[in-house]
Amino acid sequence: MSEFALPLMTDRLTLRGFGAEDVDNLFALYGNPDVVRYLYDDVVERDAIATRLAGYTDTVPVDGQWLSLAMEHDGTFVGQASLCFRSAEHRQAEIGYILHPTANGHGYATEASARMMQLAFEELGVHRVVGRIEARNAASERVLQRLGMRKEAHLIQNEWVKGEWNDEIIYAITEPEWRRAQVSTEQLSS
Ligand SMILES: CC(C)(COP(=O)(O)OP(=O)(O)OC[C@H]1O[C@@H](n2cnc3c(N)ncnc32)[C@H](O)[C@@H]1OP(=O)(O)O)[C@@H](O)C(=O)NCCC(=O)NCCS
Repeated sequence: MSEFALPLMTDRLTLRGFGAEDVDNLFALYGNPDVVRYLYDDVVERDAIATRLAGYTDTVPVDGQWLSLAMEHDGTFVGQASLCFRSAEHRQAEIGYILHPTANGHGYATEASARMMQLAFEELGVHRVVGRIEARNAASERVLQRLGMRKEAHLIQNEWVKGEWNDEIIYAITEPEWRRAQVSTEQLSS
Protein backbone atom coordinates (compact mmCIF):
# COMPACT_ATOMS: atom_id res chain seq x y z
CA MET A 1 0.00 0.00 0.00
CA SER A 2 1.20 3.50 -0.79
CA GLU A 3 1.58 6.49 1.49
CA PHE A 4 -0.48 9.65 1.32
CA ALA A 5 -0.13 13.26 2.43
CA LEU A 6 -2.33 15.10 4.92
CA PRO A 7 -4.40 17.17 5.06
CA LEU A 8 -6.82 15.93 2.44
CA MET A 9 -8.74 18.77 0.88
CA THR A 10 -12.23 18.99 -0.63
CA ASP A 11 -14.13 22.03 -1.92
CA ARG A 12 -15.28 22.97 1.58
CA LEU A 13 -13.43 20.74 4.01
CA THR A 14 -9.99 20.05 5.37
CA LEU A 15 -9.43 16.48 6.58
CA ARG A 16 -6.56 16.39 9.06
CA GLY A 17 -5.16 14.00 11.63
CA PHE A 18 -6.55 14.09 15.16
CA GLY A 19 -4.40 15.34 18.05
CA ALA A 20 -4.54 15.59 21.82
CA GLU A 21 -6.25 18.97 21.40
CA ASP A 22 -9.32 17.22 19.95
CA VAL A 23 -10.66 15.77 23.20
CA ASP A 24 -13.55 18.23 23.37
CA ASN A 25 -14.28 17.82 19.66
CA LEU A 26 -14.53 14.04 20.00
CA PHE A 27 -16.50 14.30 23.23
CA ALA A 28 -19.08 16.38 21.33
CA LEU A 29 -19.59 13.28 19.15
CA TYR A 30 -19.14 10.26 21.42
CA GLY A 31 -20.57 11.95 24.50
CA ASN A 32 -23.88 12.69 22.77
CA PRO A 33 -26.59 9.98 22.95
CA ASP A 34 -28.23 11.19 19.72
CA VAL A 35 -24.96 10.93 17.80
CA VAL A 36 -24.08 7.41 19.02
CA ARG A 37 -27.65 6.09 18.70
CA TYR A 38 -26.89 3.87 15.69
CA LEU A 39 -23.20 3.26 16.44
CA TYR A 40 -21.81 0.26 18.33
CA ASP A 41 -20.47 2.74 20.87
CA ASP A 42 -22.29 3.63 24.06
CA VAL A 43 -22.02 7.21 25.23
CA VAL A 44 -18.39 7.76 26.22
CA GLU A 45 -17.30 9.66 29.33
CA ARG A 46 -14.96 12.58 28.69
CA ASP A 47 -12.19 10.79 30.62
CA ALA A 48 -12.23 7.94 28.12
CA ILE A 49 -11.76 10.12 25.03
CA ALA A 50 -7.95 10.27 25.33
CA THR A 51 -7.78 6.46 25.18
CA ARG A 52 -9.93 6.49 22.05
CA LEU A 53 -7.69 9.15 20.48
CA ALA A 54 -4.60 7.07 21.22
CA GLY A 55 -6.04 4.25 19.10
CA TYR A 56 -6.52 6.44 16.03
CA THR A 57 -4.13 6.37 13.11
CA ASP A 58 -3.63 9.00 10.41
CA THR A 59 -1.25 6.85 8.35
CA VAL A 60 -2.00 3.89 6.08
CA PRO A 61 -4.03 1.54 8.29
CA VAL A 62 -3.32 -2.16 8.74
CA ASP A 63 -6.07 -4.79 8.66
CA GLY A 64 -8.86 -3.96 11.08
CA GLN A 65 -7.47 -0.49 11.86
CA TRP A 66 -9.38 2.74 11.26
CA LEU A 67 -7.76 5.73 9.58
CA SER A 68 -9.64 8.54 11.34
CA LEU A 69 -9.50 12.15 10.24
CA ALA A 70 -11.03 15.31 11.67
CA MET A 71 -13.27 17.27 9.29
CA GLU A 72 -12.90 21.04 9.46
CA HIS A 73 -14.92 23.69 7.68
CA ASP A 74 -13.44 27.20 7.81
CA GLY A 75 -11.31 26.10 10.78
CA THR A 76 -14.27 24.71 12.75
CA PHE A 77 -14.47 21.01 13.67
CA VAL A 78 -17.53 19.50 11.97
CA GLY A 79 -16.99 15.76 12.34
CA GLN A 80 -14.96 12.63 11.80
CA ALA A 81 -14.30 10.78 8.54
CA SER A 82 -12.93 7.24 8.73
CA LEU A 83 -11.67 4.45 6.55
CA CYS A 84 -11.05 0.95 7.86
CA PHE A 85 -8.86 -1.58 6.10
CA ARG A 86 -10.85 -4.76 6.30
CA SER A 87 -8.30 -6.80 4.35
CA ALA A 88 -5.11 -5.70 2.60
CA GLU A 89 -4.96 -9.12 0.90
CA HIS A 90 -8.44 -8.72 -0.60
CA ARG A 91 -8.11 -4.92 -0.87
CA GLN A 92 -11.38 -4.27 0.98
CA ALA A 93 -12.14 -1.16 3.03
CA GLU A 94 -15.06 0.36 4.92
CA ILE A 95 -16.01 4.02 5.26
CA GLY A 96 -17.49 5.70 8.29
CA TYR A 97 -18.56 9.23 9.19
CA ILE A 98 -19.88 11.07 12.22
CA LEU A 99 -20.97 14.70 12.16
CA HIS A 100 -20.97 17.18 14.99
CA PRO A 101 -24.66 17.73 15.84
CA THR A 102 -24.50 21.33 14.57
CA ALA A 103 -23.06 20.26 11.20
CA ASN A 104 -25.88 18.10 9.81
CA GLY A 105 -27.64 18.95 6.58
CA HIS A 106 -24.80 20.61 4.65
CA GLY A 107 -23.45 17.63 2.72
CA TYR A 108 -20.24 17.48 4.77
CA ALA A 109 -20.42 13.73 5.48
CA THR A 110 -20.95 12.98 1.79
CA GLU A 111 -18.19 15.37 0.68
CA ALA A 112 -15.64 14.01 3.18
CA SER A 113 -16.54 10.40 2.38
CA ALA A 114 -16.18 11.00 -1.35
CA ARG A 115 -12.61 12.18 -0.66
CA MET A 116 -11.94 9.15 1.54
CA MET A 117 -13.16 6.89 -1.26
CA GLN A 118 -10.85 8.65 -3.69
CA LEU A 119 -7.99 8.08 -1.24
CA ALA A 120 -8.92 4.41 -0.98
CA PHE A 121 -9.18 3.77 -4.71
CA GLU A 122 -6.50 6.08 -6.11
CA GLU A 123 -3.84 6.14 -3.42
CA LEU A 124 -4.27 3.02 -1.28
CA GLY A 125 -5.06 0.47 -3.99
CA VAL A 126 -8.40 -0.61 -2.51
CA HIS A 127 -10.68 -2.64 -4.81
CA ARG A 128 -14.02 -2.41 -2.96
CA VAL A 129 -15.37 -0.03 -0.34
CA VAL A 130 -18.36 -0.92 1.84
CA GLY A 131 -20.64 1.09 4.08
CA ARG A 132 -22.42 -0.78 6.88
CA ILE A 133 -25.32 0.83 8.70
CA GLU A 134 -27.91 0.02 11.30
CA ALA A 135 -31.07 -0.37 9.21
CA ARG A 136 -32.96 2.47 10.94
CA ASN A 137 -30.18 4.98 10.20
CA ALA A 138 -31.95 6.59 7.24
CA ALA A 139 -29.71 9.69 7.10
CA SER A 140 -26.63 7.46 6.87
CA GLU A 141 -28.23 5.33 4.15
CA ARG A 142 -28.84 8.49 2.10
CA VAL A 143 -25.14 9.36 2.43
CA LEU A 144 -24.18 5.96 0.99
CA GLN A 145 -26.67 6.40 -1.86
CA ARG A 146 -25.36 9.88 -2.66
CA LEU A 147 -21.87 8.38 -2.81
CA GLY A 148 -23.06 6.13 -5.62
CA MET A 149 -22.88 2.89 -3.68
CA ARG A 150 -25.07 -0.14 -4.41
CA LYS A 151 -27.25 -1.81 -1.79
CA GLU A 152 -25.92 -5.35 -1.43
CA ALA A 153 -27.69 -6.77 1.58
CA HIS A 154 -30.21 -6.28 4.33
CA LEU A 155 -29.29 -8.66 7.12
CA ILE A 156 -32.12 -9.47 9.50
CA GLN A 157 -31.33 -9.30 13.23
CA ASN A 158 -27.68 -10.25 12.65
CA GLU A 159 -26.31 -8.25 15.56
CA TRP A 160 -27.14 -7.85 19.25
CA VAL A 161 -26.40 -4.20 20.03
CA LYS A 162 -27.28 -2.21 23.14
CA GLY A 163 -29.78 -4.77 24.36
CA GLU A 164 -31.69 -5.47 21.15
CA TRP A 165 -31.43 -7.29 17.83
CA ASN A 166 -30.39 -4.97 15.02
CA ASP A 167 -30.72 -5.31 11.25
CA GLU A 168 -27.70 -4.30 9.18
CA ILE A 169 -27.74 -2.86 5.66
CA ILE A 170 -24.63 -3.13 3.51
CA TYR A 171 -23.78 -0.88 0.59
CA ALA A 172 -20.67 -1.21 -1.59
CA ILE A 173 -18.88 0.10 -4.64
CA THR A 174 -15.97 -1.42 -6.53
CA GLU A 175 -13.08 0.51 -8.02
CA PRO A 176 -14.28 0.06 -11.66
CA GLU A 177 -17.80 1.17 -10.69
CA TRP A 178 -16.36 4.21 -8.92
CA ARG A 179 -14.21 5.13 -11.94
CA ARG A 180 -17.20 4.86 -14.29
CA ALA A 181 -19.21 7.15 -11.99
CA GLN A 182 -16.35 9.72 -11.98
CA VAL A 183 -16.33 9.73 -15.79
CA SER A 184 -20.12 10.23 -15.94
CA THR A 185 -19.90 13.10 -13.45
CA GLU A 186 -17.13 14.75 -15.47
CA GLN A 187 -19.18 14.36 -18.68
CA LEU A 188 -22.22 15.92 -16.98
CA SER A 189 -20.21 18.93 -15.81
CA SER A 190 -18.42 19.53 -19.15
C1 LIG B 1 -25.28 9.96 9.31
C2 LIG B 1 -24.97 11.46 9.25
C3 LIG B 1 -23.49 11.68 9.01
C4 LIG B 1 -25.76 12.07 8.09
O1 LIG B 1 -25.67 13.48 8.17
P1 LIG B 1 -26.24 14.37 6.98
O2 LIG B 1 -26.12 15.79 7.38
O3 LIG B 1 -27.58 13.88 6.59
O4 LIG B 1 -25.25 14.04 5.79
P2 LIG B 1 -24.45 15.04 4.85
O5 LIG B 1 -23.50 15.85 5.64
O6 LIG B 1 -23.92 14.27 3.73
O7 LIG B 1 -25.59 16.06 4.38
C5 LIG B 1 -26.58 15.61 3.50
C6 LIG B 1 -27.86 16.39 3.79
O8 LIG B 1 -27.57 17.76 3.65
C7 LIG B 1 -28.35 18.32 2.58
N1 LIG B 1 -27.47 19.30 1.92
C8 LIG B 1 -27.54 20.64 2.14
N2 LIG B 1 -26.58 21.26 1.45
C9 LIG B 1 -25.90 20.31 0.77
C10 LIG B 1 -24.81 20.35 -0.12
N3 LIG B 1 -24.20 21.51 -0.46
N4 LIG B 1 -24.36 19.18 -0.63
C11 LIG B 1 -24.95 18.02 -0.31
N5 LIG B 1 -25.99 17.92 0.55
C12 LIG B 1 -26.46 19.06 1.08
C13 LIG B 1 -28.76 17.13 1.73
O9 LIG B 1 -29.96 17.38 1.03
C14 LIG B 1 -28.92 16.05 2.76
O10 LIG B 1 -30.15 16.12 3.42
P3 LIG B 1 -31.25 14.94 3.23
O11 LIG B 1 -30.57 13.63 3.51
O12 LIG B 1 -32.30 15.28 4.22
O13 LIG B 1 -31.67 15.06 1.81
C15 LIG B 1 -25.36 12.16 10.57
O14 LIG B 1 -26.74 12.01 10.77
C16 LIG B 1 -24.62 11.66 11.79
O15 LIG B 1 -23.50 12.06 12.06
N6 LIG B 1 -25.26 10.73 12.53
C17 LIG B 1 -24.68 10.19 13.76
C18 LIG B 1 -23.51 9.28 13.49
C19 LIG B 1 -23.86 8.17 12.54
O16 LIG B 1 -24.92 7.55 12.65
N7 LIG B 1 -22.95 7.93 11.60
C20 LIG B 1 -23.13 6.92 10.60
C21 LIG B 1 -22.85 5.57 11.13
S1 LIG B 1 -23.13 4.34 9.89
